[in-house]
Parts: sequence; structure tokens; C-alpha cells
Amino acid sequence: MDPKENLVLLAAALLWMVISAETSQATHLPGCQDKCGDVSIPYPFGTSEGCYFNDHFRITCDTKITPPLPYLWSSKVEVLSISLDGHLRILTFVGADCYNKSGARESRKKSIAILPAFPFSNTRNKFFGIGCDTIALISGVDLHGQTYSTGCLSLCNDTASVTNGSCNGIGCCQIPIPGNLLRYSATVTSFKNHTDIWESNPCGFSFLAEEESFNFTIANLTSIKNTTRLPSSIDWAIGNQTCEEAKKDLTGYVCKANSGCYDSSNAPGYLCNCSAGYIGNPYLPDGCQDVDECKDSNLNRCLKKCQNTNGNYTCSCPKGYHGDGRKDGEGCSADQLLAVKIFVGVGTSVIVLVAVSGLLYFGQQKRKLIKLKEKYFQQNGGLMLQQRLAGREEPTSAAKIYTAEELEKATNNFDESNIIGRGGYGIVYKGIFADNTVVAIKKSRTVDNSQIEQFINEVVVLSQINHRNVVKLLGCCLETEVPLLVYECVSNGTLSSYIHDRNKAATFTWETRLRIAAETAGVLSYLHSAASMPIIHRDVKSNNILLDENQTAKVSDFGSSRLVPLDQAQISTMVQGTLGYLDPEYMLTSQLTEKSDVYSFGVVLVELLTGKKPLSFERPEEERSLAMLFLSALKEDRLFPILEDCIAKEGNAEQVDKVARLGKTCLRVKGEERPTMKEVAMELERLRMMGKHPWTNVESNYEPTEYLLGKQIDAFGHGKSGESSAGYQVLGAVLLPSGGR
Ligand SMILES: *[C@@H]1O[C@H](CO)[C@@H](O)[C@H](O)[C@H]1NC(C)=O
Ligand SMILES: *[C@@H]1O[C@H](CO)[C@@H](O)[C@H](O)[C@H]1NC(C)=O
Ligand SMILES: *[C@@H]1O[C@H](CO)[C@@H](O)[C@H](O)[C@H]1NC(C)=O
Ligand SMILES: *[C@@H]1O[C@H](CO)[C@@H](O)[C@H](O)[C@H]1NC(C)=O
Ligand SMILES: *[C@@H]1O[C@H](CO)[C@@H](O)[C@H](O)[C@H]1NC(C)=O
Ligand SMILES: *[C@@H]1O[C@H](CO)[C@@H](O)[C@H](O)[C@H]1NC(C)=O
Ligand SMILES: *[C@@H]1O[C@H](CO)[C@@H](O)[C@H](O)[C@H]1NC(C)=O
Ligand SMILES: *[C@@H]1O[C@H](CO)[C@@H](O)[C@H](O)[C@H]1NC(C)=O
Ligand SMILES: *[C@@H]1O[C@H](CO)[C@@H](O)[C@H](O)[C@H]1NC(C)=O
Ligand SMILES: *[C@@H]1O[C@H](CO)[C@@H](O)[C@H](O)[C@H]1NC(C)=O
Ligand SMILES: *[C@@H]1O[C@H](CO)[C@@H](O)[C@H](O)[C@H]1NC(C)=O
Ligand SMILES: *[C@@H]1O[C@H](CO)[C@@H](O)[C@H](O)[C@H]1NC(C)=O
Repeated sequence: MDPKENLVLLAAALLWMVISAETSQATHLPGCQDKCGDVSIPYPFGTSEGCYFNDHFRITCDTKITPPLPYLWSSKVEVLSISLDGHLRILTFVGADCYNKSGARESRKKSIAILPAFPFSNTRNKFFGIGCDTIALISGVDLHGQTYSTGCLSLCNDTASVTNGSCNGIGCCQIPIPGNLLRYSATVTSFKNHTDIWESNPCGFSFLAEEESFNFTIANLTSIKNTTRLPSSIDWAIGNQTCEEAKKDLTGYVCKANSGCYDSSNAPGYLCNCSAGYIGNPYLPDGCQDVDECKDSNLNRCLKKCQNTNGNYTCSCPKGYHGDGRKDGEGCSADQLLAVKIFVGVGTSVIVLVAVSGLLYFGQQKRKLIKLKEKYFQQNGGLMLQQRLAGREEPTSAAKIYTAEELEKATNNFDESNIIGRGGYGIVYKGIFADNTVVAIKKSRTVDNSQIEQFINEVVVLSQINHRNVVKLLGCCLETEVPLLVYECVSNGTLSSYIHDRNKAATFTWETRLRIAAETAGVLSYLHSAASMPIIHRDVKSNNILLDENQTAKVSDFGSSRLVPLDQAQISTMVQGTLGYLDPEYMLTSQLTEKSDVYSFGVVLVELLTGKKPLSFERPEEERSLAMLFLSALKEDRLFPILEDCIAKEGNAEQVDKVARLGKTCLRVKGEERPTMKEVAMELERLRMMGKHPWTNVESNYEPTEYLLGKQIDAFGHGKSGESSAGYQVLGAVLLPSGGR
């Protein structure tokens, strides 16, 4: 080759590269015509040799007319548009049959279309017959040479009975077409030469067209006469193999980089589409290109920072924040230190900042509102919260601070219908944020300092905890008159409602009960052994154990919980808790220890076993307290009669027996003789692991097994006997072989 020619070629190539770099979303092969008139021609279609995939994809561009018009192959089939999703729109003719007033035929036209390769779309097209004395017929041939004939008819006495806008058989009939249809001929005839209705409808018409491009109206009974062609759709595809076959046949497979393959629904052959996160023409040699989602905020869900990756993007948070940075995810929350700073700063700088912008934008009024919010912030313990959080080093799962507007919107302005619970402490609303996350929002009932204290307490305690069996605190709002806490929504109500609702209890299996007990014990054990500062829940009860849709236990309500400084084994407090669950020792001494939770948990365990209320004034005086009732039943070896019916029926005798005995140890009067929550949790886990033996023979299985019990106590390391308190003696009599160890 002549070097000059080489140079020219190189220049051309460079030029093309520049052009194609500019139009990064090129849809055609280099050097090929990308448009014919207004119609763009993406590869595998093309107009000249080398520009199309094979002969089936050749487009003839007639440049003698302006604007130039594209035709399929060298046919008379005019192309309206080509799309890479396998559709190609063409114009097809309208068949007609017209008469003069006296019933003599004036003109008759057939509509014929013959496609060499791609079939008419059977999903997008319909065959239509129009007129009030009309028999519309179509006969066709499919890809395999099969022929078919069908038609529809439309007869009406006058055009007044025609429904405008609807092709329902009066004045207009339509029928679907079969798949794989490659050619057809559409004709139309009449019964009475349109003589009765000639004034309003001298012609009948029949045609195949895109359902979407033809909306029938009364006017069409005459207007179609002037229409010769209508759009219809054909389904193109590559080759005659399925994806699977084509992938094996490596040389023939045309789906390029970052693309996938799917079988055509109509024609034989397959199509390519770009993989998620990519865009472009999957048939071109370079394949599909990565989408830079970060360039367009509509394409990504990042709050702050967005980083494009191949086929995707990642979000991140600015320094000092953590989270996934996504609008639909965790978002960004301030690291703990920052959170403290924010808390400290809110009172001054942020409010000042907001006030300044308020001044700038909304003037005096807005400033008043902010003043009010500031007042609330202080009143709601913003300062207390600062103090409590300050001086903490360990990172917390920082709670988000919500605005009042956000929460009002989420709860429909705290509408009654959104209330999902009421407690002594406040009202719980269901809230739905704009991104469809469902939350529970707890609103303090009154603005009373002791409640504020509880509120702050809960924020502080919960921000220390990250456990799947603890209701997650998502954040809070301090700007309103009463403080608001935002939690994850736990959908299936309280454990109490499951135990004490007769219908629910019947289907509340032993297995589930045991799992919930183990989960709850696990959480309490976790809280008690929290490395930095053990947490005593102080109000363990079935009402404070929530169940999610899978009946997973979630412990809630940390309003009265206490953080116990490590150097203090017990702390003196005002006695708080719920009657029926309250540790008798704590009640007497006001000395709060972790064992108080153990006692309350013991009551929950017994509740799970018996289905009875922890305190009921309907029972005789000595049985009012469930703990007492249970202990005396055990003492008299009458466990079975007090069990919840369904447990007595289906429970595993050995497990039930051991859980009952475990419950008994938890209910010991002397705190120090109760097992620790960790021991309880481990024992429950161990019992869960035990195989499931049906309660085949209740009587014989239910014999106190001192030996096993002794082992259990061994595990707890509390196997000492003797002791004074009445409660202990009750237990000791059954539990401990004296001098056992
Ligand atoms: C209709 O056509 C026939 C034959 O062409 C003719 O004889 C007749 O006069 C026409 N009638 C009218 C009303 O034009
Ligand atoms: C209807 O038209 C056809 C064709 O022009 C003619 O042969 C036939 O006689 C006409 N019938 C009536 C009832 O006018
Ligand atoms: C058309 O009108 C005739 C008499 O005018 C009547 O017998 C026939 O039932 C009507 N047909 C329809 C479809 O309305
Ligand atoms: C029929 O509907 C079309 C559009 O829906 C409207 O333009 C036309 O005026 C209607 N014709 C009659 C007779 O109601
Ligand atoms: C026919 O109606 C559909 C929906 O009513 C509309 O989307 C479509 O654009 C209409 N087609 C034409 C050609 O007016
Ligand atoms: C059809 O076109 C002719 C002229 O080409 C015109 O006289 C007639 O009014 C048109 N009819 C309709 C229904 O648009
Ligand atoms: C059908 O009638 C509507 C007006 O009612 C018109 O816009 C449309 O072009 C007509 N369709 C055909 C195929 O003549
Ligand atoms: C598939 O197409 C190839 C080439 O286009 C042809 O040789 C072969 O006969 C076709 N196979 C079928 C089953 O149509
Ligand atoms: C590609 O097409 C297949 C089949 O229609 C579809 O399931 C898939 O979601 C498409 N992929 C993309 C990224 O659109
Ligand atoms: C992008 O990444 C996110 C998060 O890792 C993931 O959920 C998503 O499915 C990914 N999208 C694509 C198209 O791979
Ligand atoms: C959770 O509650 C919903 C509605 O109250 C109920 O349909 C569903 O069965 C419950 N799920 C379980 C596991 O109890
Ligand atoms: C419930 O279990 C299903 C299946 O294991 C899981 O997909 C779903 O996320 C669980 N729901 C909750 C709230 O954990």
C-alpha cells in the first residue's frame, strides 16, 4: 500500500476516534452511517456492506427523496424506527372496500406484507376490521411455512351505536395474531355493499397494526379512507439459535463485553442487553460501557460522597461520619466524638447558624420558631444528654437526630390511627418515612422531669447496645415539646400478647417459647456482661419483650435501666419495676444487682411455661403471685397441671421439666443464690440443642431427676445447701441432695 494512502487511513481513523470519543454512546460501527433521515440505525443494522451483521439486518437508505427514507433490505417496507430491545417498526398498508351510494363497488384494496426474516410481533400488533358492514379477513404464513386464516366481522345498523374510543366489535373489531407470522394478506368484504349505512360508512377496512398506534374513534369509519399505511411492529433477533446454543458456538455469539443474552419471545434467535450498571450497544465490538452513576444524582442513592465503580458505585460518608452513605440505607451518622460535639454545638453554633440562615431567609418569624426549638432542646434534656454522653470514649452506634417535620410527616401529624401502643411512659406511633422505612416513634406523655430523665437514660443506654435481640434505637428528636424516640419497628407485638391471648397461645409452640426464652436470656446476659459498663434492665417483663415477624425476641424499654460502674457490684436506687416481676430482695433492700433481672426473667420463664398472668387478683390470695403459685406447685410435684395446655400436649417433657427447674433457681429469694444470666442463657441454649422427644407418657416421664439437676447446679457453681430464707428452703428441699458436693 502506498504510504500516502496509509497516512490518509490513519488520519481517518484518528478522526473517527475523536468523533467516537465525543459520542461515547455510539450505536453504530465506526465509519458507518448512523442515521437515515430521522431514523437512527444501530448495529447490528446498517446500510452498507460491513456495517450490518448479516443480510437480514441490511437497511436501504433512499437518499433520492428528502428526507431520506430507510427501507428493510431492498424491499418497499419502510422503517419507522429500530430499537435495540428487539423491536423494529415499519409501515404496513390498509386494506379497503368502498361502494357508491347505490351499492356498486368503487374500489377494493388488499393489504399484503411479506417479510423475509423477522416475524410480526404478536404482542404489539393486532388485526383490525373497521366498518358497519364489514367482514375482515387475514391469511398468513409463518416461519415454518404453516398457513393460517382467520378474521373478524363488525355489523351495525347505524353509526350512532358505535362506541367512540373503543374497538369492541361495534364498528371496529380486533383479534390477536399468532406468533412467527412472516407474511399475510388482509382483505375486506361486506354483506350488503354498505347500502343501509352508506351515508356514514361507505367503506370497510382491514389491516394489521400496532395496537398502541391505532385508537379507534367514530371518525375513523370514514377517515381511514385517506390513510394508506399504519405502523406495525416486527420482532428481530440474532440467528436462529437460543442463547444457550449460541454461547456454546463461540464464534457465532454476538453479545459483547458487559452484556447478557435472552431468547426472543417470538422469533427464533436471541438478543443481547447490557448488564445492570452498563449502557450502550451490546452488539458493538467494545460491548457495553460503564454508567458513571455519580455524574447524575438521579442515578445514585448517595447522600454525600459517590465513587463510581465498574458496573456500580459506592457511597461513603465524609470524615467524622460513618454508615453506608446511602439515602435508602443507614445514611451517614456522626461518629461518637462528633456526636458529642454536635450535641454540645447544637445549643450554640448550629442554632446560631440556623438562626442566621433563618434571619436571612425567613426573618423574624422563623427565628421565633427556632427559639422555641432551642427552648425545647434544653427542656428536653439536650444538656443532660450532652453531659451523659460526654466523657465516654467507646464508640456508640450514634443515634440520628431527626427533625420535627420529618417525624410529623412520618406519622401523619401523630394521627390517632397510627398509634400502635400505649405504656405508662408514653404513646408509641407507627411512622413511615419517605423512603418507606417503617419505624416506631415513642412520644413521652407529659413534659415531666422524671420522664425526661428516663428518656435521656434510654438514649444513653441504647446507644451503648448493638444486639439483634434488642430493639434498635434509630434516633431521637429534641425539637418538639416532648422528646421523641425513633426505634426500628417490631411488627408482631409483645410476648405478653402471645402468651395471654388464648388464640395466639394455642399456636405458640413450645419450641418457639424456648427459643424466645433463650434469646431473652442471651440479651440480658450480654447486657450484664457488657465490657465497659454492665447494664441492668430493671424492668424485664413479657410486655417489654417484642416479637418481630419471625417471632424473634427484641427486648425493649430501657427507660429505667441502669449502667453499673464496674467498681460497684450493686447500687442503691429507688425501687422501680413492675409488680409480679419485682425481685423481693431488691424490694426489701433497695440494693439493685444484676440478680434482680434474673428474678424477673424467672417470672417470664414461668409465664411462658404456664401461660398465667404474673399477678392476678382473680386467683386465691396465696396464688396471686405467679412465682408463688409456681414454686408451691413444684414443691408438691404438680407442675403438669399448671402448664399451658399446648405445652402439656406437645412440649418435650425433659426440656419442660428442666426449664421449670431452671425457672425455680431464678426465683430464689436470695439474689446471690440465683444463677447468673449467663448461666441461664447457656442452660437454655443447651436445652434447645437437646433432641425433641414427644411427651409420650406424661406421668412416667415426669419424675424429678435429682441427678440431672445436680449437674445443672454444678454448672452454675451454686451448689451449696442449707440457708435460711423461706424461698430457698422451698427450692432446696427439692433441688439439692444435701451434702451433694
Ligand atoms: C354507482 O356506480 C354504478 C356503476 O359504476 C353506477 O351505475 C351508479 O350510477 C352509481 N351510483 C351513484 C349514486 O353514483
Ligand atoms: C354488491 O357489490 C358487488 C360487487 O360490486 C355486486 O356484484 C353485487 O351485486 C352488489 N350487491 C348488492 C346487493 O348491491
Ligand atoms: C338492525 O335493524 C333491523 C331493522 O331495522 C333490526 O331488525 C335488526 O335487529 C337491527 N340489528 C342490529 C344489530 O341492531
Ligand atoms: C371521539 O373521541 C375522540 C377522542 O377520544 C374525540 O376527539 C372525538 O370528538 C369523539 N367523537 C365523538 C363523536 O364523540
Ligand atoms: C392511543 O391511546 C394510548 C393510551 O390511551 C396512548 O398511549 C397512545 O399514544 C394513543 N395512540 C395514538 C396514536 O394516539
Ligand atoms: C380525504 O381526502 C380528500 C382529498 O384527498 C378530502 O377531500 C376528504 O375530505 C378527506 N376525507 C377525510 C375523511 O379526511
Ligand atoms: C382515527 O380518528 C382520529 C380522530 O378521531 C384521528 O386522529 C386518527 O388519525 C384516525 N386514524 C386513522 C387511521 O385514520
Ligand atoms: C440456522 O441458520 C443457519 C444460517 O443462518 C442455517 O444454515 C441453518 O439451516 C438454520 N437452522 C435452522 C434450524 O433454521
Ligand atoms: C436483560 O433481559 C433479561 C430478559 O428480558 C431481563 O431479565 C434482564 O433484567 C435484562 N437486564 C437488564 C440489565 O435490563
Ligand atoms: C451495587 O451495589 C449495591 C451495594 O453493594 C448492591 O446492592 C447492588 O445490587 C449493586 N448493583 C449492581 C447493578 O450490581
Ligand atoms: C405477625 O403478625 C401478623 C399480623 O398480625 C400475622 O399475620 C403473622 O402471622 C404474625 N407472624 C407470626 C410469626 O406470628
Ligand atoms: C424473617 O425471616 C425471613 C426468612 O428467613 C427473612 O428474610 C426476614 O428478613 C426475617 N425478618 C426479619 C424482620 O428479620
